[in-house]
Amino acid sequence: MGVKIAVLPGDGIGPEIVRETLKVLDVLNTHFGLNAEWEEGLIGGAGYDGARDPYPEATQRLVKASDAVLLGAVGGPKWEPLAKPLRPEAGLLRIREDLGLFANYRPAKVQTQLLAASTLKPEVIEGVDILVVRELVSGVYFGQPRGIVEEEGGRRGFNTMSYCESEIRRIARKAFEAARLRDRRVCSVDKANVLEVSELWREVVSEVQAREFPDVRLTHMYVDNAAMQLIRAPRQFDVIVTGNLFGDILSDEASMLTGSIGMLPSASIGERYAMYEPIHGSAPDIAGQDKANPLATILSLAMMLRYSLNAAELATKVERAVDLVLDDGVRTADLALDGGAVVSCSAMGTAVAERLKMLGDE
Ligand code: IPM
Ligand code: MG
Repeated sequence: MGVKIAVLPGDGIGPEIVRETLKVLDVLNTHFGLNAEWEEGLIGGAGYDGARDPYPEATQRLVKASDAVLLGAVGGPKWEPLAKPLRPEAGLLRIREDLGLFANYRPAKVQTQLLAASTLKPEVIEGVDILVVRELVSGVYFGQPRGIVEEEGGRRGFNTMSYCESEIRRIARKAFEAARLRDRRVCSVDKANVLEVSELWREVVSEVQAREFPDVRLTHMYVDNAAMQLIRAPRQFDVIVTGNLFGDILSDEASMLTGSIGMLPSASIGERYAMYEPIHGSAPDIAGQDKANPLATILSLAMMLRYSLNAAELATKVERAVDLVLDDGVRTADLALDGGAVVSCSAMGTAVAERLKMLGDE
């Protein structure tokens, strides 16, 4: 029986990077015996334009009737004037919440071919292989109360950073389980020297480790120090587990170790559903110009193959194809060295698809 994938291109460069990823999916169907069909849905600004809702009902039905979701990116200046619940980002947060995608995996692995593409020294980043496990459906992103209120002397804006024990426990377990398949080290990042929510976070993560994962080494780090250590000595990290906001920030930082934010895939997984998306945004400044790097989305498809479609072997093939294309020196603008040749988004997608075909013929 075939598998069904919901494809949500979204806004900005979303449609371009998704189109290239579908080229790769097509090769998996034609050359590797994958039996995947896909159906497109609206999300973000495209959802607002098409259905006056950044997470339209038709999309809600589609994603719940699919085996996995592939998402491009959402957002853009066009929709900024809208009321907050109608903005593209609200659609993204709603789909994460609606599908219960509490565990967000963001792997930052430095590829040797891209050592020179990072702004950091090669000797600092060589061999970096970090997995950021970010809690995705709670914390300050979702905490109540929140708002902007009128007060004497001016308005006040406020949000609530809150985690309950069960939310901390389930994300901690995911991080420890992931670490068991890697170097068995977890660094939990918080701000326990200031925030009560972090105090509880630290306590519960330690408890889960002691009771259920004595074979995994746990350390704790304050988020400000973690931000510094990530660029000072990134090899010290294996798995980083952290809350929604800190994970948002640290994963962007970690992506820069790899040379470009255009390289980082992600998987967001809950009890029933899973969604795969690049960690980067919709890059409105280069949208529609065929300049974007589709590799983060293609690598997100690889994560989907591995975690949702039970096709780890195909995942490895896709990753291998990306690797070989980089070996060949194929570079989108974000990865190019000064004066080096640059290919378009579609040329990069085609290059990966062609390489993949060759792997099938081997
Ligand atoms: C991400 C993005 C989103 C987030 C935005 C677009 C709402 O930055 O996936 O990291 O903050 O989670
Ligand atoms: Mg982010």
